Amino acid sequence: MRLSLAVAIVSSLWSLSVASPLSAGSLKERATTFTNPVLWEDYPDLEVIRVGDAFYYTSSTFAFSPGAPVLKSYDLVNWAPVSHSVSTLNFGSKYNLNSATDRAYVKGIWASSLRYRESNDMFYWMGCVESGKTYVWTAGGTGAGKNNGEVSNWNWTAAATINKCYYDNGLLVDDDDTMYVAYGNTKIMVAQLSKDGLSEVKSQQVYVSSDNAYIEGSRMYKVNGFYYIFVTKPANEEWVLKSQSPWGPYEMQVLVASIAGPLTSAGYAHQGGIVGTKDNKWYYVAFMDSYPGGRIPVAAPITWTSDGWPQLVKDGSAWGKTYPMPVQTTKTVPSPVGTDNFEGSALSHEWEWNHNPDNSKWKLAGGLQLQTATLTNDLFTARNTLTHRIIGPKSSGTFRLDISQMKDGDHAGAALFRDIAAYIGIHKDGSSAKLVMVNNLSLSTTWATNATGTVAATGPTLASGTTDLWLRVQADITPAFGSSTQRTTTFWYSTDGSKFTQLGSPFPMTNAWQFFTGYRFAVFNHATKALGGSIMVKSFTMEKL
Ligand SMILES: *[C@@H]1O[C@H](CO)[C@@H](O)[C@H](O)[C@H]1NC(C)=O
Ligand SMILES: *[C@@H]1O[C@H](CO)[C@@H](O)[C@H](O)[C@H]1NC(C)=O
Ligand SMILES: *[C@@H]1O[C@H](CO)[C@@H](O)[C@H](O)[C@H]1NC(C)=O
Repeated sequence: MRLSLAVAIVSSLWSLSVASPLSAGSLKERATTFTNPVLWEDYPDLEVIRVGDAFYYTSSTFAFSPGAPVLKSYDLVNWAPVSHSVSTLNFGSKYNLNSATDRAYVKGIWASSLRYRESNDMFYWMGCVESGKTYVWTAGGTGAGKNNGEVSNWNWTAAATINKCYYDNGLLVDDDDTMYVAYGNTKIMVAQLSKDGLSEVKSQQVYVSSDNAYIEGSRMYKVNGFYYIFVTKPANEEWVLKSQSPWGPYEMQVLVASIAGPLTSAGYAHQGGIVGTKDNKWYYVAFMDSYPGGRIPVAAPITWTSDGWPQLVKDGSAWGKTYPMPVQTTKTVPSPVGTDNFEGSALSHEWEWNHNPDNSKWKLAGGLQLQTATLTNDLFTARNTLTHRIIGPKSSGTFRLDISQMKDGDHAGAALFRDIAAYIGIHKDGSSAKLVMVNNLSLSTTWATNATGTVAATGPTLASGTTDLWLRVQADITPAFGSSTQRTTTFWYSTDGSKFTQLGSPFPMTNAWQFFTGYRFAVFNHATKALGGSIMVKSFTMEKL
């Protein structure tokens, strides 16, 4: 944090406001422009809504748990996760990471939808899982409509399961309070929902292109009397369907097609949605494939033609790197960087477990205590690995650990977590605690474990009673998508918290998109001999570099 502030101070006013977007309110008030990406973290398949002064953002999280984070912003630029719609992945037992063969990598929460319904003061989240059933979670009694968008208590409940897949769905609450959902691929469908929004009344196909193009990622709106369905032609175009009725007929115009984006070696901005500010300025927020870091959000203003077609405000022929700030406000959200001392009564919403955790094996008790939850030599099969998105383009994640309660055979440490992974950690062997850097952990293309990793470097053997060990993962997630360049991550340790020593060689990251989720920081602890050991995670610090 200190570093980014120092950098900001020597920069111009313009870059000051964006180099440190979440610093003190006094600096933020002076921000007149913003820079894309708005939040350089992996938050794909977004939908952005506004309730009063607050914007909320939902995103897909696959087999990470809790799922479907809700991010909040007052200006569409500074975002912080404040809740998760899906408290527990209630999609079947494989989401509990039961074994090497009974697990759900890459399955789970795909493009889903979030809406607020004023009439019953309820947020609705809806997602289709594994092309099977559609799950609806609701948060009622939030008071958001009456309280300018503020939610005192997110009360998410598994409200319904609809025995049909609303694939890549987008909800709409119409002016007359009727709820609709647009969904499907190639053939775009609309369903009308029951009064409580929890079941289907009827559905029908509303659009298919003359050339049967593969389109998906529906987002549904009503603006100035017209119904709109935004769909993406992956992974480079966004189409707008417009009609006077939710049931069509829909006319189509292309909003963006392969326009140059604000970052190099990243994909085209696509699969987004629109949102209006209180003073009726509209924005299109989409994401760019930015591997190895995942899919990150970018925003741009839109204008409307007199006959109701949205037009992206470009910089020349490209998506702008900077635009005027959408909303001038002194209201702020917490910074994505800084230190988490695990002091609250619950984990912050920056954290997601790899699959549903075993809640009997972790607790907050003056830090985060992770007991070994699984007997395995495979990190991909171990329960209770806790993950945190990496902020780009370069950042470090440092875990401060007490390893004194590890037992013989336990493996614990700080990982660079994805389908091709590496870590720095402790392999407890008898009474000695061996510091190791392990690389080449990998999942196959069907997400079975292919390799459990190779010890690539060893550090000093640490005293068994070590109560303070800092493990650092330093990652460069500058996009290299579609390129043969591989960004690298380095692994460091310290026994005093100030002098860090690198262990092992820089680890090259994969740019492949197929795992969908980008690289994350993670902390883990699993047993290879017997359960019973634990570590205490005293703090985690993420710093931009
Ligand atoms: C939580 O939401 C349910 C409906 O989903 C509602 O019945 C209940 O009153 C809410 N509880 C609180 C504390 O707001
Ligand atoms: C499987 O692991 C081996 C050994 O680390 C590696 O050479 C190979 O590339 C891996 N395959 C996949 C699909 O990750
Ligand atoms: C293991 O990873 C290193 C890079 O960290 C790479 O050079 C090496 O080829 C990998 N080995 C295998 C067997 O995949």
